[in-house]
Amino acid sequence: AYIITEPCIDVKDGDCTAACPVDCIYEGGRMFYIHPDECINCGLCLSICPVDAIVWDGELKPEQKPFEAANREFFGKG
Ligand code: SF4
Ligand code: F3S
Repeated sequence: AYIITEPCIDVKDGDCTAACPVDCIYEGGRMFYIHPDECINCGLCLSICPVDAIVWDGELKPEQKPFEAANREFFGKG
């Protein structure tokens, strides 16, 4: 699944939500989150994000790993 990472914090551009065909990107307090079960892995949101915050989970850098857990927690899957 795709994960939204650090650059989204306090930026919250929101254009990714318009690009997502299944509306699985949800607004949180300081960033947006992608629902891991609803995302169809189409990748359409990737190039839309002006700060390149969206990353494929298989390509997360070590320092981006906490966002995977934060994402699960946001949807009550912690
Ligand atoms: Fe939505 Fe596709 Fe991005 Fe998943 S990869 S969040 S389905 S636009
Ligand atoms: Fe955040 Fe980028 Fe979407 S800044 S809200 S992930 S377009």
